[in-house]
Amino acid sequence: MNSIIEIALARSADVPIIADMSRRLVEVGLPWTWTPERVMRHLRHPESMVITARSAGCDTSTLAGFAIMHFGDDIAHLNLLAVDYRHQRLGLGRQLINWLERTAVAAGTFTICLEVRARNPVALLFYRRLGFLETGRVPRYYSGREDALRLMRDLRHPLALPPD
Ligand SMILES: CC(C)(COP(=O)(O)OP(=O)(O)OC[C@H]1O[C@@H](n2cnc3c(N)ncnc32)[C@H](O)[C@@H]1OP(=O)(O)O)[C@@H](O)C(=O)NCCC(=O)NCCS
Repeated sequence: MNSIIEIALARSADVPIIADMSRRLVEVGLPWTWTPERVMRHLRHPESMVITARSAGCDTSTLAGFAIMHFGDDIAHLNLLAVDYRHQRLGLGRQLINWLERTAVAAGTFTICLEVRARNPVALLFYRRLGFLETGRVPRYYSGREDALRLMRDLRHPLALPPD
C-alpha cells in the first residue's frame, strides 16, 4: 500500500468505523468497550480529539487508521490508536502520534501518557521506538482481566518533537 495519507478530524460518519476497528484491532480477546456510543462521546467532548487517516481519494467508509486523545490541563492522555493491517509498518502510526504531539505542544501540554496491554509486544516496541518510557504497571486494568503498562513521553525533551 503506497498512497498519500490525509489526517483529519473525525466526522460522525467515522464513528461506527472507528468502533469496529477498535474491536478488531485493539480489544481482541476482551469485551468490546469502545462502542460507537463511547467513541461518539469523545468526538463531542470539548477536551477530546478524534482523528482519522485515509488514503487520498479513497472511499469514505475506509479508514487507514485513527487515534483518540483527551487533552487535560497538564497531561494529554492517548486513549486509543490503531492502524489497519494493510497500512501497518509504513509509518502511519508514527504520523498519527506526531500530529497529536504537535497539537499538544501548540495547546501548551507537554506530557502524553497512555496505557497499553502488557501482552501487546508490537505496541510496546512501537511506543518505545517513539520515545515513550514505562512508568508502571496497572494490574487487571482491562475489564479486570489483563494488566496494562503505563507509558509517558515528555515533549520538552530536545529529541521529542519531529520536524514538520
Ligand atoms: C501499534 C501500531 C499502531 C503501529 O502502527 P504502524 O503504523 O504499523 O507503526 P509505524 O509503521 O509508524 O512504526 C513505527 C516504528 O514502530 C516499530 N514497530 C511498528 N510495528 C512493529 C512491528 N510489527 N514489529 C516491530 N517493531 C514495530 C518500529 O520501530 C517502527 O519503525 P520502523 O518501521 O522504521 O522500524 C499498529 O501495529 C496497530 O494498530 N496495532 C493494533 C492496535 C494496537 O495495538 N494499538 C496500540 C494500542 S491502543
